[in-house]
Amino acid sequence: MKATIRINKENEISRIDNRIYSSFIEHLGRAVYGGIYEPGHPTADDMGFRQDVMEIIKELNVPMVRYPGGNFVSGYNWEDGTGDKSRRPRKMELAWGSIETNEVGIDEFQEWAKRAGSEVMMAVNLGTRGADDARNLVEYCNSSTDTFYAQMRRRNGFEKPFGIKVWCLGNEMDGDWQIGTKRPMEYARIACESAKLMKMVDPTIELVACGSSGPQMPTFGEWEETVLREAYNHLDYISLHSYYGNPDNDSQQYFGSAAIMDKFIGDVVDICDKIKEEKKSDKTIMLSFDEWNVWFHSNEQDKKQEPWQVAPPLLEDMYNLEDAIVVGDLMITLLKHADRVKIACLAQLVNVIAPIMTETGGGVWKQTIFYPFMYTSINGRGTALKTEVESETFTAGKSENTPCVDAATVLSEDGKTLSVFAVNRKIGEAAELEIEGLDGFRLVSHISMEGDDLKAGNSMAEPDKVTPVNHEINDKVTLTGGSWNYLKYEK
Ligand code: AHR
Repeated sequence: MKATIRINKENEISRIDNRIYSSFIEHLGRAVYGGIYEPGHPTADDMGFRQDVMEIIKELNVPMVRYPGGNFVSGYNWEDGTGDKSRRPRKMELAWGSIETNEVGIDEFQEWAKRAGSEVMMAVNLGTRGADDARNLVEYCNSSTDTFYAQMRRRNGFEKPFGIKVWCLGNEMDGDWQIGTKRPMEYARIACESAKLMKMVDPTIELVACGSSGPQMPTFGEWEETVLREAYNHLDYISLHSYYGNPDNDSQQYFGSAAIMDKFIGDVVDICDKIKEEKKSDKTIMLSFDEWNVWFHSNEQDKKQEPWQVAPPLLEDMYNLEDAIVVGDLMITLLKHADRVKIACLAQLVNVIAPIMTETGGGVWKQTIFYPFMYTSINGRGTALKTEVESETFTAGKSENTPCVDAATVLSEDGKTLSVFAVNRKIGEAAELEIEGLDGFRLVSHISMEGDDLKAGNSMAEPDKVTPVNHEINDKVTLTGGSWNYLKYEK
């Protein structure tokens, strides 16, 4: 097949907010304990953080990491993870049926984030708690006043405030699995009042309200409208969460995932703008896609886990090549919405539905999804350009007319590099690519995720079974059928 990509350098979508390359670490499974933190490990630093894991995380250049959950946050008492470690309580963690030792809390995590070169995106508990604890936590983290919680932080050894800028008002509060599930107006009220108090403590923070836990939720739409109507003036972002998968083993249909994400984003943008119009507000609510990834491989094995273990191996999806292609494609979609999606978090970062896996007491290795995330995070910074793509279409499940080829283009800050991220979703059918509007830019590198076996994946034993393919540069650019591609152009 033939496909055409048309770029117009004068036609910008938006400057890209680098925070779309953020990630997420929850107190879940081995993300924290045995993941980023393992005091006895040969590479552990003075605070018990694994340096081998930290080095690989740095390769992804993750600007912000959401913490501490996730479902976990809805039953979490943040004070449990502060101060003298020997006095921290061991608790039943109800969201995942595990034991939380509280060895790591915000005291440690903010330091870990600094060492990893990231900022913390902090979630507050609006499940079992509310506005009072939320504003106390903001004071603990961000205040320099001579008052109780700021003093508590100082007593715990932190003279300087942590300066956490972005805060999530709870997590997935519409989900019946959530500790303290809320009806739309119940959540709208608690989010509004918490937001008000949190911004009274620190007016410089930015707040993310929970949107629906996904477009499949029965109250999707109604939920967003209710929350925005009630709390509009206090909010900066609304969250989107979505996970994709191939449980029916239909890879061609699975390659339609990005079109579903695209529609979800478009629908949420429409809702935000409808309420903006209603309110006659000058403020535009931006989108925080703060949980996205592929998640389905580990569902069955997780059901077999015994409850009440410390750091059990939960949500340890082993990703394959087709998952990497989908992840790359989802990132293309985020770039196409760079004007409204200002934050996005790959859920998650280590061991739990993650690009990076560890062996507790052992080594660390990269999953297939590591590579498209890394290439996009490193090269997808600057300005997103409108990119027109003409290609054949296919039917992905219920979605007819899904384009076989899709692409996003980014012009670097210095104007010297043009990065084209492109996917060919049609399995078994190569696309000969024509790119218009290159305006003197020449192809210098073509890297792809592709291969004969879409089910091949990496492991500790075979860490490099699936890695990016480096193509020779010639006059023709061909996108292999079923591939994700990074094309780098320079002047
Ligand atoms: O990322 C795993 C879980 O997925 C999170 O805890 C929750 O918010 C979502 O349902």
